[in-house]
Amino acid sequence: MEDGQFAEIKITVDDILSCSYSNWYSKFKDYTFSEAAIYKPLSKEFIEYLESDGIELPKDTKKDSVLFQDVSPNSDNEYSDWENDDNEKETDESIKKFEDFHLTLREKIKEFGSVAPKLNWSAPQDSVWIMTGRNMRCYSTTDLFLLLKSSDYLNHDMYHAFDEACDFDKSNPPKFELELVLRKWVEINPSMEFRCFVRDRQLIAISQRDLNYYNFLDELKDELTEKIGIFFDDILLSKNEANSFVFDVYVPKPFNKVYLIDINPFQRSTDPLLFSWNELATMSVSEDDIKFRLVTEHNSGRFATKAHSQNHVPKDFLDASVDTQSMVDFLKKCKELELNGDSESESESESKENPK
Ligand SMILES: Nc1ncnc2c1ncn2[C@@H]1O[C@H](COP(=O)(O)OP(=O)(O)OP(=O)(O)O)[C@@H](O)[C@H]1O
Ligand SMILES: [Mg+2]
Repeated sequence: MEDGQFAEIKITVDDILSCSYSNWYSKFKDYTFSEAAIYKPLSKEFIEYLESDGIELPKDTKKDSVLFQDVSPNSDNEYSDWENDDNEKETDESIKKFEDFHLTLREKIKEFGSVAPKLNWSAPQDSVWIMTGRNMRCYSTTDLFLLLKSSDYLNHDMYHAFDEACDFDKSNPPKFELELVLRKWVEINPSMEFRCFVRDRQLIAISQRDLNYYNFLDELKDELTEKIGIFFDDILLSKNEANSFVFDVYVPKPFNKVYLIDINPFQRSTDPLLFSWNELATMSVSEDDIKFRLVTEHNSGRFATKAHSQNHVPKDFLDASVDTQSMVDFLKKCKELELNGDSESESESESKENPK
């Protein structure tokens, strides 16, 4: 390959489908650290709700949400114009169209306590900025719907999942069922998450997943490589047919068990973290020579931005930062919102063409 050329990465529609959550979870459920409820197929009404502009949220679960805790009027915060709840406009008409499903989700969240959601391939990690905990933890359907509706990453699953497949025919797109996954929330230590790259049935590379500098990881490299290697050879390889794929694992102390978090397609839209896709596609690796990369003390500055932070602000705001006219439009819009007292008015400019 000549310098400056992209190495070809061959992935098929079937490879991508095999990474759909329901597909790999049915085989490796026992190796995950949390129970998951998978809903598929999703009803037309729920998909329409996900696709629609604007964010309508269920009113009846607002009280369980971390974001909408009521403030009770008292002598310290007294206002003359406290809104009377009974006069509030009904705003959840479109949710009523899938009321039974809404109730099912409510019950499941109650049973699990709190959940981390995702669709077939992607979790809404880009919209966590909207949550008080800055994470994907949902305590109610209000949290869940807000997180899902604010995410651009989910558009990837709905409209762009097969874009990189060599056998993808745009005029005859593959049929697949969109799914919603609710994973029971578990507190995990991000320093012990690793992304592992498998090319032609060989584990070639492992990268730290959370790109902060953790000084204790370096001395664990050999032990972690061994444990992940055994998990790959004994468990993953025989049951996962794809030729190449990327799997995420969690290896908490005392490092005697490897948990599977996700299986991802071996393609450019999967984040290569501390590697580059050209490297992963072309590196020659001899048997048992797995490249293990960590953020080191010396390069930690390069990864100082918070993961997904490019998606943590509204798109209008980003546009405004690079173009004067957009800045003027943005300020006008802010002024309008201020005058209307309407802080929830949605931006129409979010594009469905915004894959992760
Ligand atoms: N059950 C859970 N409880 C709490 N946090 C979780 C749970 N499952 C996953 N997470 C966290 O959510 C993060 C993202 O989840 P996941 O890897 O499924 O998203 P993704 O969209 O597939 O990410 P990517 O695009 O990088 O492949 C994980 O790195 C992990 O830290
Ligand atoms: Mg993934």
